[in-house]
Order: sequence, then structure tokens, then C-alpha cells
Amino acid sequence: MAKLVVISNRVAVPKARGAAGAQGGLAGALNSALRKHSGVWFGWSGQESEEGAGGGIDTQTHDGVTTATVDLSKRDIDEYYNGYANATLWPLFHYRLDLTEYERETGKGYERVNEAFAEAVTPLIEEDDLVWVHDYHLIPLGERLRSRGITNRIGFFLHIPWPPTRLFVSLPYHERLVRTMLQYDLIGFQTQEWLDSFLHYCTKELGAEVDEATGSVTLDGRTVTARAYPIGIDWDHFQAQGDTGESRQAEQRLLSSTRRRTAMIGVDRLDYSKGLPERIDGIGRFFDQHPERVRDLVYIQVAPPSREDVESYQQIRTLLEQKTGQINGARSEVDVVPIRYVNRGYTHAQLYGFFRAAKIGLVTPLRDGMNLVAKEYVAAQDPDDPGVLILSRFAGAAQQLEDAVLVNPHSPDDVAHAIGRALDMTLDERRARYDKMVRTVHDENVQNWTEDFVTDLTG
Ligand code: F6P
Repeated sequence: MAKLVVISNRVAVPKARGAAGAQGGLAGALNSALRKHSGVWFGWSGQESEEGAGGGIDTQTHDGVTTATVDLSKRDIDEYYNGYANATLWPLFHYRLDLTEYERETGKGYERVNEAFAEAVTPLIEEDDLVWVHDYHLIPLGERLRSRGITNRIGFFLHIPWPPTRLFVSLPYHERLVRTMLQYDLIGFQTQEWLDSFLHYCTKELGAEVDEATGSVTLDGRTVTARAYPIGIDWDHFQAQGDTGESRQAEQRLLSSTRRRTAMIGVDRLDYSKGLPERIDGIGRFFDQHPERVRDLVYIQVAPPSREDVESYQQIRTLLEQKTGQINGARSEVDVVPIRYVNRGYTHAQLYGFFRAAKIGLVTPLRDGMNLVAKEYVAAQDPDDPGVLILSRFAGAAQQLEDAVLVNPHSPDDVAHAIGRALDMTLDERRARYDKMVRTVHDENVQNWTEDFVTDLTG
């Protein structure tokens, strides 16, 4: 029977799944797809070894999902992961030209690792298997597989934004990179906005023939289809987490430690795209305008460190520490601290409990492909007494969750105003907003996302 072969940079084995919420949405989403389609998940083990990808494949099966992983050498990790993927493509695709590094060597490392992945995964691909490649680390992989004679249907899904053409053309060899994408059969984006930017690039820069109604892109006699597939959460799995003692304990822990104050929560990887210093400025502005409300409101920022070998991530961490320290220094009383800043991850069950205890969820990225924390926050609310989601209009999720309180994350005044609105919102309004959002989060879940993509890929 044909199987699904998923290829992504990181592979999370199912037993480690509880921590996925704090690590990014991709891991949970893919496990779900693979359980359903009895598939193989290939990628980097997360380990460094001297031989790197040439050292062989480690295969394991847990809970019906087979993972096949290779190590990477130190040089590969530096050039491919820390370098081209996370110091070039990530900032550029999040509109941060100021942070984008253009180094020829890291570009070569990126191509080398894509080639090594293709070499390692090719023997695992059998006739009629569907191959699904994920994210910006592996854009050229489909073309590398084609050069090895793989004629199977191959899809690619980009989990992050696709930048406007005027930004994207600052990437040296941009045309070469996008031409490799035309070797896929299906390309998925999180939102119509990122899809539009991609189609615009193909028309203007490549001179491709683009049919916007169907998403077909034709160049040199080859046609690929590009569409938007907004990713969702694994609703059933997440609700099951809410039924655990671990989740209830986490909820009680937060409630009892905040007592009469309203808890407001943010959960983000420590990444500059998440708008954390800007968010803290917004909270600071709120307390400047309403100093007495320091007794009403406590903000909990959960921010597990991420990509710590990349300089821009070290800088954002320092900046955030300064800003939270300044506000806490200026606004704390002996018995009240306005911001709790926590540099660690929690399990999905614990996050569910925290989200339920928090009456305001603050999700304010400067740019985000989708953002599943926004959807998880909604999913965890008590339908009788739901909290308020404050959401950046620049997160992909804002295109589906229009009933959140939408904000411009660059504006401290806008964020401060939204916090005030959320604190004072009537139960009726909270319920009305929640009812609409929860329907979307429930209906447009990760199972539907997988099925939609796989059905279209099957052709
Ligand atoms: O969502 C984008 C993404 O890069 C995912 O691919 C990944 O799971 C997550 O962010 C965490 O990033 P990293 O794998 O670099 O720790």
C-alpha cells in the first residue's frame, strides 16, 4: 500500500509530543497526519555527529509512526540550520531585512544538506508513495529528489510567510531557489496573502503563466499548483489534554497564585518575529496610563529559548530581559509583580490549564505564518466564561479569527488600549466573540488541513 513520506527539518517522535505546543505547531500537526496515513517521517535527529548525514539512518517506530533520522555535522548545523535557514531565510521571510545575513558559504551548506537529505531519503520512497516536504529549510529538496529519478507526486508546505516580491528579490539567487519549487506538484501556503505574494513573484520575476483562480503556475512546460491551506490544531488531542489532572493542576496553580488579579498570558518561542519587546512596551504603556491596575492584572510570559546559537536570538533575549526588568522594577510593590517572565517550555496539558486560567491571551507577532497558540488559547476557554484573545493583525491566524481583538503589534498605544478593552469586556461580548472563533478552531482543524493537502496532492 502506498504510504505518506513526510520530510521536515525536525522530527518529533510521538512520545515527546506533549511538549510540542511550546516548540512550534509543526510537530503536533505532522504526527497527526502520519498516524492516519501510516507513514514515514524523515528528517534531522537534532543531534550532531562527525559523519553527519553520511553516518546512516536511525529508524524507530512509536505509536504507528516510523521516524527515520540522520545526524548533521557541526559544519552542516552552522551553515544550513543556524546559517542559511535561520539567519537568512527566516528573517527575510518575516520581513526583517535588517536582520537578514547573506553569506555565500551558508548558502552552499544549505544546498549540501538538501542534497544529503535527498540521498538519504530516496531509498525509503516506493512507487506511488506521496512525498510531503515541509518548510523553509528544505525548499530545494523536491528538485534534488527529481534529479535522483523520483517521479512520485511531491508536495511542499511552507509554514512561515512568503514575503512580498520587493523584499524577496534582495536574496541572492532568489530565482534559482524559486525555480526549484516548480519541481513540486503542489505548493501550500498558510494564507491567501502569502500565496498572493508567491504568485506575484512568479508572474513578475519569472514570467510564469499564473492562473489565480486555480493557483496553477506554468513555466517551461511544467505546471505546479499553489494554494492556501490554513493549518489548524488537533482539536480532539488538545481537549483530551484539558481533561487530565496535569492540566487541572496547572490551572489551579495559576489561579491560586494570581488570586483576585486577572491573569493575562503569552506563550511564544523566544523569537524576534513574535513581537515580544513590542508587547512588553504595550503592557508598560497600559500600566503608565493606569498605574492603579497593577493590582488587577498580572502578565505571564512563557518564552522557551530558541535557536540560541544565532546572534539575533541572543540579542532579543537580552532586550526582553531588560524590558521586563524595567517594568517590574518601576511598577512592582512588595506584594505585587506585574510581569512573570519564564524561560521554559510546558507540556500541552499544562498550557491548556494556563490558557483556561488566563482571562486574556496576548498573541502579538510582528509577522507569523499562522500562529497556533492563538487557536489553542481559544480552544482551552470555558464556554460559559471565556477569556479574550488579543491578536496581531499580522499573524496568519487573524485572517480566520476576525472576532479576536485585533491589534497593530508595533503600536504600544494600540496594545495598551486592547488590554483595557479586554479587562472591561462584558460577558455577553466575550461569549459572542468566542462562539464564532471556537467554531472556526474546531472545524478547521489539523485533520482537515492534512486531508485537504493530501487529497489535492493525490491528484
Ligand atoms: O514554524 C516554523 C518552525 O521552524 C517549525 O518548522 C519548527 O518546528 C518551529 O518553528 C521551531 O523551530 P526550530 O525547529 O528551529 O526549533
